[in-house]
Amino acid sequence: MKKTLQDYLYSLVKSNKVKLLSSVVITLFSGLTRGGSFILLLPLLNLAGITGNPDQNSRAFKLTKIIWDMLGISFTIYTCLIIYVLLVLIHACLGYMKNIIDVTVVQEYKQNLRNELFSAVINAEWGFIKSAKNTHIFNNIINEINNIGYSVNLVISSFSTFTLFFFYLSTSLYVSIKMTVIASLCIVPLLLVQRKLNNNAYKSGLAMYTRHESLFNAVLEFINSFKMAKSYTFQDRYETEFRKITQQTVKDEYIFAKISAGTSILYEVGSAIIVSIILILAIKVVHMPVVDLLLMIYIASKLLPTISSLIRVLQYTLNTLPSYEGVINLLHDSQKNQEKNDDKLPVNEFPKKFIKFSEISFRYDEEKPILNNFSYEIEVNKTTSILGASGRGKTTLVELLLGLLKPHSGKILLDNKDLNDVNLTDWRNMSAYIPQECFLFNATIRENLLWVKPEANEAELQEVLKLVAGEFVFRLPNGLDTNVGDQGIRLSGGERQRIALARALLRNPKILILDEATNALDISNELIIKKAIDNLKGKMTILIIAHNQYLHEGADETVDLEAVPSILYPE
Ligand SMILES: Nc1ncnc2c1ncn2[C@@H]1O[C@H](COP(=O)(O)OP(=O)(O)O)[C@@H](O)[C@H]1O
Ligand SMILES: [Mg+2]
Repeated sequence: MKKTLQDYLYSLVKSNKVKLLSSVVITLFSGLTRGGSFILLLPLLNLAGITGNPDQNSRAFKLTKIIWDMLGISFTIYTCLIIYVLLVLIHACLGYMKNIIDVTVVQEYKQNLRNELFSAVINAEWGFIKSAKNTHIFNNIINEINNIGYSVNLVISSFSTFTLFFFYLSTSLYVSIKMTVIASLCIVPLLLVQRKLNNNAYKSGLAMYTRHESLFNAVLEFINSFKMAKSYTFQDRYETEFRKITQQTVKDEYIFAKISAGTSILYEVGSAIIVSIILILAIKVVHMPVVDLLLMIYIASKLLPTISSLIRVLQYTLNTLPSYEGVINLLHDSQKNQEKNDDKLPVNEFPKKFIKFSEISFRYDEEKPILNNFSYEIEVNKTTSILGASGRGKTTLVELLLGLLKPHSGKILLDNKDLNDVNLTDWRNMSAYIPQECFLFNATIRENLLWVKPEANEAELQEVLKLVAGEFVFRLPNGLDTNVGDQGIRLSGGERQRIALARALLRNPKILILDEATNALDISNELIIKKAIDNLKGKMTILIIAHNQYLHEGADETVDLEAVPSILYPE
């Protein structure tokens, strides 16, 4: 906990030293101007005769007069008022500047952390992303970073409390070092009791972190299964589940509120006891002069609340520390699993002869090997069918081929280059992969197509659509400019697949991989796709995975994973 807190504060300081320093400096000046305008009130009262005749011996009066003499202006009620208004004006301007700087620091800190996390996740290996929970990534990027932002805000705003704390502390030391030391010793037991509360604040933060993820999970799962929930009439179940989580969230917040309120009580009562001790010691033991005694009590009554308020900031920070830990852990894990491409061999041209699986072994977990010493050679510019029952590892094979997953042993060779040694970005740029669950963005059909080739012209778009039986697009009222809705929800499954196919072809790939990409199509449309594929035969390397026999017909080669003895089937 301590180490993370240090790391967190260090990361904050490192994030924007200049702005943070400016904030501190402004806080100091702001304190001075406020103090100045406050002190000015005393000679003003004096000059106005409210406190009786001008008291030439008043300290504030003397001090102000010295400054006035230095500035070379005459000491009247008017100059005093003008200076007073000027000071207030400066104080207000400084406050404005500080607000703006603080907001920028918070926003920049959040933005940098969020960008860094996003880049790390998106550049991590597919195997890592595949095994991470979506909601974990989602929650950290969106929610937890916001949470950290609140804490950053609070930490920065506590600078002024810090300044006040040092101001009162030094005044107290100036009046009486002995009494200040005694008072500080009195605070020690308070701080000891405090430690337990701090631990609890952190623990309650941990509980909140888990709860945020459950909440996100519940919402995301509901959104993803909205239709199912409705059709199974499971809304009640979802509602109950959801309410359970929100109720727990309230409980977590309540626990933290209690900790915070407990701290206030502790310090309020503690302060009263400390002031009493000071009084007794000052009167009975030290025999302090009355003026100093009053000043001491005044300072103690100001100093103790600043400590209490700083402790509450610390508690809130500890409470949000699990958010920071979560984000940093995900960041580091992603960074550890980065796909390294820079030092790899560029792939300038597609393999001339073959893509070869050479004694490949792969498993997701120990008990469940998917491939075991699997060897197969895909000939370039041939069409290869991959057969196998559901769950045999067809998609896994494709992910290995694209370098999305790494084999545990064995090699994938592009002619004689090891896939492990080549630049995967180059390699993937030559391919078009259409998975079963094709993804369309919530945008127009045109935008979805142009995603892979922004410079494509209208004729190219029409051509690829015709190739994949996509003429239905031209019959839509808005044609290519029809919005497809979230994940293409406004289109039928078959329509979505045809657009995904058109998008893949628009990329003009060297290797086309259809992974059950036509399973939502009816036979007549599938036959059109088959014809399109037949036309592409010999022009590119094609891999077909399909349940339907049509697409496999006419393939040059077939690899039947069922018949490969080296595969240890799951089960
Ligand atoms: N991320 C994963 N973690 C653990 N097991 C997985 C993961 N992805 C797939 N599997 C398992 O690996 C096996 C092969 O999956 P897959 O290649 O998708 O099969 P296919 O495409 O042939 O239907 C399945 O049993 C599946 O449950
Ligand atoms: Mg599959």
